[in-house]
Amino acid sequence: MQKHEQWSSRIGFILAAAGSAIGLGAIWKFPYMAGENGGGAFLILFIVFTLLIGAPILMSEFIIGRHAKKDAIRAYTAISPKRGWKLLGIGGVAASLLLLSFYSVVGGWILSYLGRALFGMVTANGQFEQLFAQIIENPIESLVAQIIFMILTILVVQGGIHKGIERASKVMMPALFLLFLMLAIRSLTLDGAMEGVKFLLQPDFGKLSTESLLEALGQAFFALSVGLSVMVTYASYLNDSEDLSRSALSVVGLNIIISILAGLVIFPAVFALGFDPTSGPGLVFVVLPAVFNELAFGGVFFFIFMILLLFATLTSAFSILEITVSVISRENPSRRKRSTWIAGFVTFLVGIPSALSFGILSDFTLFGKTIFDLADYITSNLALPLGSLFISLFVGYAMDRKAIYNELQKGSAISVSFFKAWYFTVRYLCPIAILAVLFYSVGLL
Ligand code: ALA
Repeated sequence: MQKHEQWSSRIGFILAAAGSAIGLGAIWKFPYMAGENGGGAFLILFIVFTLLIGAPILMSEFIIGRHAKKDAIRAYTAISPKRGWKLLGIGGVAASLLLLSFYSVVGGWILSYLGRALFGMVTANGQFEQLFAQIIENPIESLVAQIIFMILTILVVQGGIHKGIERASKVMMPALFLLFLMLAIRSLTLDGAMEGVKFLLQPDFGKLSTESLLEALGQAFFALSVGLSVMVTYASYLNDSEDLSRSALSVVGLNIIISILAGLVIFPAVFALGFDPTSGPGLVFVVLPAVFNELAFGGVFFFIFMILLLFATLTSAFSILEITVSVISRENPSRRKRSTWIAGFVTFLVGIPSALSFGILSDFTLFGKTIFDLADYITSNLALPLGSLFISLFVGYAMDRKAIYNELQKGSAISVSFFKAWYFTVRYLCPIAILAVLFYSVGLL
């Protein structure tokens, strides 16, 4: 990898950033969380939080990254003389490691399903819940699948930004959209599909709980990959002729579209075939094989779906690993390969308890949660909102307003009123809204 490597084109960057955003968050987590939190009401909260808080913070991360052109830790110290801001980068690296540690467990489940789907062993099985339990409870299979998922991630990331990540995203992301569209059409044409559409699009706010707000906020951040400085890292490889605000809006738009498409693939089929939308993290893995089993060529459709899910999951995993790799090796590119393997292996080690928490460690709980659930809770509901809060404070108060304006003007001609509205949102609305949701969820508001 060259020292001053950059994305080769704007579309390359948008696809890679959208690839980072779109992953298990939109496809696996969004449907089950919407299913557990009243469907349409959760979708509205998710969209409002994504547009009002997630999007301005995504733009903030882009600005920090491209302005500093450094890794997630050095970017903050390059911009502000106050050394304390470094902690924001260090926290992001630690949280991204924790996130990838359980993310790769689910990546492993996808590989397990994919291996079986190849031989038609999933849809033909008939015992979908048992199959899911058998896969997630088996310690050897879980660990082997997790390490294979990490090796796939490492093999691409070690190739560098342009050769590896961008090239892979350029093929994977368009394939994902096409296949997803096809699956949604198939699902929507089932008898009784309208019930699922109503569930997703007609809000019932009575079904929201106190936690729903924080869940929706965490989901908005998780799905956009904001709060960890992952997007700071990606934007640091972007050249000055690209339009940051348009790139951010494209990523946000694509992410919302894919989340809704995921809902339109899953809920119509769930309702048409009489399943329970509140069945939790197993929704994709348990319900979908059963759903596909009811369709002509269901085994083929399921195989395609799993490939798609693997693509989406990998492109997110690339970005989450890249943040650590760039911190270690950006100043010394000859170290890139070795640091990718080290960071990937450490992530795997940290993820072992999460992988085992459905089987031999299932009785081991902390604060009433299994290790997997705790890792998810700490990253999604604490680290991402707090990271996003401090990123908005950094851009709103530690960065020079003129420098921000100039950064946004590069490669674009944003209007002064757009800039003012965005800046106001980052300085006031984002921090207040994030704090309000955090306080509300712990009963302090
Ligand atoms: N944004 C990534 C995802 O949704 C983490 O999967």
